[in-house]
Amino acid sequence: MSDTHLIPVQRLQVAVQQVVRGFGSSEAEVQAVADNLIGANLSGHDSHGIGMLPRYAEAFLQGGLRVNAHVSTLLDAGAMLRLDGNAGFGQVIGAEAMALGIARARAQGSCIIALGNSHHLGRIGAWAELAAAAGLVSMHFVNVIARAVVAPHGGADARFGTNPFCAGVPLTGRDPVILDFATSMIAQGKTRVAYNKGELVAPGCLIDDQGRPTQEPRYSVVPPIGALLTFGAHKGFGMAMMCELLGGALAAGMTQRDDDGSQRRVLNGMFSVLVDPAMLADRAAFEVEALGFIDWVKASPPREGFGPVQLAGEPERAWRAQRMAEGVPVDATTWQEILAAAGQLGVDPVQVQAAAGLGV
Ligand SMILES: NC(=O)c1ccc[n+]([C@@H]2O[C@H](COP(=O)([O-])OP(=O)(O)OC[C@H]3O[C@@H](n4cnc5c(N)ncnc54)[C@H](O)[C@@H]3O)[C@@H](O)[C@H]2O)c1
Repeated sequence: MSDTHLIPVQRLQVAVQQVVRGFGSSEAEVQAVADNLIGANLSGHDSHGIGMLPRYAEAFLQGGLRVNAHVSTLLDAGAMLRLDGNAGFGQVIGAEAMALGIARARAQGSCIIALGNSHHLGRIGAWAELAAAAGLVSMHFVNVIARAVVAPHGGADARFGTNPFCAGVPLTGRDPVILDFATSMIAQGKTRVAYNKGELVAPGCLIDDQGRPTQEPRYSVVPPIGALLTFGAHKGFGMAMMCELLGGALAAGMTQRDDDGSQRRVLNGMFSVLVDPAMLADRAAFEVEALGFIDWVKASPPREGFGPVQLAGEPERAWRAQRMAEGVPVDATTWQEILAAAGQLGVDPVQVQAAAGLGV
């Protein structure tokens, strides 16, 4: 297993901003990308944090990721917006798309956002959190355009991406419920993290290039490539299909097929529905029922081997509190890859290393 650096958040921010400046991004974009990626690490999702930077650098150097790009509105039909992300940083495109949709949903009660051609949108929960902070319920179906990494239920090879689904519900006087997961057993980035750490993945997550079960994360990282399995057998597979049909075919006009992985860019399509519960629902009933049900569910006594019942969004908040206080763990392999990416982008890795407070 490789060593892990524990980097204080402020130091990590300075170091990661230095790397992102190498793309030639505006200061606003540098801030948005660094904050979003570090936000994923803080939330406990290292798979969607700063470890994505080497992939972004490869995509950029191939011309598949466009810096300083913004959303274009292709259709403005009141409560329906069709947006093009122009292959820009998803951290910027996602925020811009959500800002447009949130303004519409607050004015009209709901909004459907069809977003296509965004570069990697990162942790989708970040977008549901934005909606929830504005008092809005949201749902997000997302497809992935990159080399296929997930097998259909019963299939022996990869045919689509880790197609995440996310939903957020704001609660009066409490933290929102934010459900946010890949439809594969584990996110693909988690196999990269496991591979970099020299660890195995849990049983039932992966098949090798012959379609046989394996725990070796290499089958998801380096050739010969196998495939991740969907969670919940045919149920996760069904959700993955919906993400492709709604986020891909309907929202983006682009689905996953025949990608040989030579293109390093990762595009996402996202179909989002935003609803203002204050306009749609009987507000008092919604608040009483939502909070009452949550209290009822959380009162279930813990089963042997489990802690207290948690709601979606709680683990991420706990990670955030811990990592804000203690620093962000970054395994040495991932850190070396980030330094190498900095070098490719014309940023001095020695300075990045120093900014992170790590010896040279
Ligand atoms: N942009 C992309 O292309 C893309 C693709 C795939 C995944 N992702 C992102 O990857 C991230 C990780 O996905 P994942 O599938 O590894 O997540 P995961 O398996 O860790 O599941 C996370 C969800 O489960 C909830 N949860 C976790 N433990 C819980 C518990 N004990 N009780 C109740 N709820 C619990 C969390 O609050 C969260 O909502 C997500 O943020 C997702 O959006 C992005």
